[in-house]
Amino acid sequence: MTDSYQAMSSAERAAELDRIRAEHERFRSLGLALDMTRGKPCPAQLDLSNGLLTCVGPDEVAAAGGDVRNYGGLDGIPDAKKLFADFLGVQPEEVMVGGNSSQTVMHDSILRAWLFGVPGGDGPWGRSERVRFLCPSPGYDRHFAICEHLGIEMTAVAMDGDGPRMDEVESLVSSDASIKGMWCVPRYSNPTGITYSDEVVDRLANMAAAADFRIYWDNAYAVHHLTDNPQPLKNLLDACKTAGNPERALMFGSTSKVTFAGAGVAAMAASRVNIADQLSHLGIQSIGPDKVNQLRHVRFFGDLAGIEAHMKRHAEIIRPKFGAVSGAFERQLAATGVATLSQPNGGYFFSLDCLDGTAARTVELAAEAGVKLTPAGATYPNGDDPNDRNLRLAPTLPDQAEIEQAMDVICTSVKLACLEKLAG
Ligand SMILES: Cc1ncc(COP(=O)(O)O)c(C=O)c1O
Repeated sequence: MTDSYQAMSSAERAAELDRIRAEHERFRSLGLALDMTRGKPCPAQLDLSNGLLTCVGPDEVAAAGGDVRNYGGLDGIPDAKKLFADFLGVQPEEVMVGGNSSQTVMHDSILRAWLFGVPGGDGPWGRSERVRFLCPSPGYDRHFAICEHLGIEMTAVAMDGDGPRMDEVESLVSSDASIKGMWCVPRYSNPTGITYSDEVVDRLANMAAAADFRIYWDNAYAVHHLTDNPQPLKNLLDACKTAGNPERALMFGSTSKVTFAGAGVAAMAASRVNIADQLSHLGIQSIGPDKVNQLRHVRFFGDLAGIEAHMKRHAEIIRPKFGAVSGAFERQLAATGVATLSQPNGGYFFSLDCLDGTAARTVELAAEAGVKLTPAGATYPNGDDPNDRNLRLAPTLPDQAEIEQAMDVICTSVKLACLEKLAG
């Protein structure tokens, strides 16, 4: 077991640096090619949903509400609306079920606000001199990419164990009318794995806002539990209604990591006013979603309990992989005192915080030894982690042996980057 690096004498640290350098050299010589970047389901997870490929045949194409093979049904087939209403904790009238990607739904809803404004708002956001989003960070790089693409400025807000740091959020949102939105991954946050507390949800719903402010509540990991007793998540739309701010909540989810990534079904939930507004634009964009796929999902799962049972099987597959990451960290890094690892109870990621100023170097060293990591900084707006500290690890896709090997390399790379830094 390694000792705390900070507590070592400089001679001890120099010896440790030599030892870890040699270890890194040994990994380099192995010619590994491992990838810990991709938050994708593994083949065994995808196999769980193969029933989708056969559960709807010519005899089942008529769903309540019409023939799913034809145009129409802009807001989704009724059975899918019911399923996703339960999934997101709203009424069927408060949900629209769409195509395969929640990323697309989120992108399009922001683009509509940019071009046309939001109900009750001050007109198109794109005509404002300045539009800003709050970005709890570390966060999801593809959220940040939407903002960057549209020219929306981003302000990072620190994340605590129960959600974004609310004093900061309240003070910014109440005082600055350029802040129009905020990203949230409220359950098993990408990448820190935390779930927002009831208090945080209530404060988000109740806080004063200087502008036509919206919360983009990306519940991508709503049902992705790794334990049997998941921490409940308070419903944001309910809380916003109670607070008298019903239009504030825009909630999203999909089955991308429930069934097939890229061939699942996505949904948005919000007040009836917001849903009507979205549909008024969507009706120009589309003559209707892929209702065949919606029907497949409805038939495959039946109801929310069907989804929950299915997700327990996912958990059985990926739990050992998460265990391999945290086990390696405990054995190899914890005692050095130079890194901390999140302890996710669900979702797809780990968040690894290294000594300040060493994350980019760690990624470089891991790459030299054949392990690809998500670029340092990716979890912060504009790819800029001000402390050069945070790394995201995605353990679902590689197999168990690959994860174990990758973690050996990652732990060595973290140590080497840190010892180099401490050596000046
Ligand atoms: C937080 C979050 N939201 C959305 C997505 C993508 O969802 P979809 O496949 O429905 O576009 C991901 C995928 O990694 C994610 O982590």
